[in-house]
Amino acid sequence: MKGADYLECLLTKGKQRIKGEVRVNGAKNAAVAILPASLLTEGAVRIDNLPKITDIGRLVEILKALGAKVTFSEGRCIYIDSSDVHTFSPPPSLVNTFRASYYLMGVLLGRFGKVEIPMPGGCDLGPRPIDQHIKGFTALGAQVELEQGLVKIKAKKLRGAHIYLDVVSVGATINIMLAAVKAEGKTVIENAAKEPEIVDVANFLNAMGAHVVGAGTDVIKIQGVSELGQAEHTVIPDRIEAGTFMIAAAATRGEALVKDIIPKHLDPVIAKLREVGVQLEVGPDWVKVNGNSELCPVDVKTFPYPGFPTDLQAPMMVLLTQAPGISFLTENVFEGRFRHVDELKKMGARIKLGGRTAIIEGGHELISAPLRAMDLRGGAAFIIAGLISHGETIITGVEHIDRGYEQIEERFQQLGVSVERRIISKVFPGK
Ligand code: EPZ
Repeated sequence: MKGADYLECLLTKGKQRIKGEVRVNGAKNAAVAILPASLLTEGAVRIDNLPKITDIGRLVEILKALGAKVTFSEGRCIYIDSSDVHTFSPPPSLVNTFRASYYLMGVLLGRFGKVEIPMPGGCDLGPRPIDQHIKGFTALGAQVELEQGLVKIKAKKLRGAHIYLDVVSVGATINIMLAAVKAEGKTVIENAAKEPEIVDVANFLNAMGAHVVGAGTDVIKIQGVSELGQAEHTVIPDRIEAGTFMIAAAATRGEALVKDIIPKHLDPVIAKLREVGVQLEVGPDWVKVNGNSELCPVDVKTFPYPGFPTDLQAPMMVLLTQAPGISFLTENVFEGRFRHVDELKKMGARIKLGGRTAIIEGGHELISAPLRAMDLRGGAAFIIAGLISHGETIITGVEHIDRGYEQIEERFQQLGVSVERRIISKVFPGK
């Protein structure tokens, strides 16, 4: 019943305590690179533990539009055969809708020596340049032109190079890896990002027959190969999704068992939550959160892995509104990643912004207010805010949340709280 006069929203009841357990799905930020990477081989690949989120759905449409044969099997498994892919220009209408489409640059350049693709879209976290991606492609011997919003890249032959990234960038690190695995000779990426998702992508590339060593450190070495073969791969668990549920349990003063995770990937989050006073028990592939304790104000600084993840900055901000006293939250990765602050202030959150630092006066109740999500992590934070506030909260912009969280309302229902997806009339919002 959607249409111009209706919009989808999430409705949360306030003053709820999480009590339950939830399984964590495959990592969005690994899967959105691994799917395009399957185009690097003419062999068939099998990828398991894919999250059922819209970014993945869009990528599958792009792969099909490029000529790949894609079949889903039971559960979360996909088979991709890209032997018939012969075009280097994905459909702009599909590519424009999300940022991770930039991985098609590295992949199509690596496969065909040529790619034409619109500048990447994505959520608004401030400027999101791709100069480091282009620096890497150029170093590998490609010519790059930006023409009316189109990125045109071509290379007679990609040759290994020594690339020193000016900025620690997840996207640039992965994109250069994708272009380099079939380049002639050796590539070294210095000042590389170290996120677990980068390791997962490298493991997938090596499963196809690439020679990537050092992923997860700040120096990655790639020995080019002439061709890649078949592979099977299971995507790692999503540490950001896991952290979101952990923070939600803490903020609602509830208890949660978050399962099927790699605890090591959550070290910075576990450490910081313990500093806040949250009790956590860590198992081999799970973590138990007990938020039923006094919360203390803390100083949080986001940094590239293994620092505190920028993708949990917004959910953490909501938790810190409940810790009596003054907390500081500094966003060191994206300069524009405070768009959720104004929405939270509508709920009575006492937050002051000073440059890259948010100063949070915690310990005051939030009052429900209509919230509009503008990016997926801010949207997830609004769900947490809705669960702890006084009254019912309507959250619009659900399409942002669905990009990175599978069936978010059902996952929170598994955790014992009421989050519902509704269709409301734009004309008569109350209906
Ligand atoms: C990836 O974005 C993730 N997205 C982001 O997750 C995540 O927040 C980010 O890495 C940091 O961990 C995907 O993996 C699809 P960056 P990416 O390149 O690659 C600057 C989410 O919520 N920079 O590591 O775009 C950039 O402006 C999303 O799941 C350059 O200056 O992030 C930023 O300040 C949001 N030049 C910093 O580097 C470049 O060429 C880190 O960006 C590239 C980046």
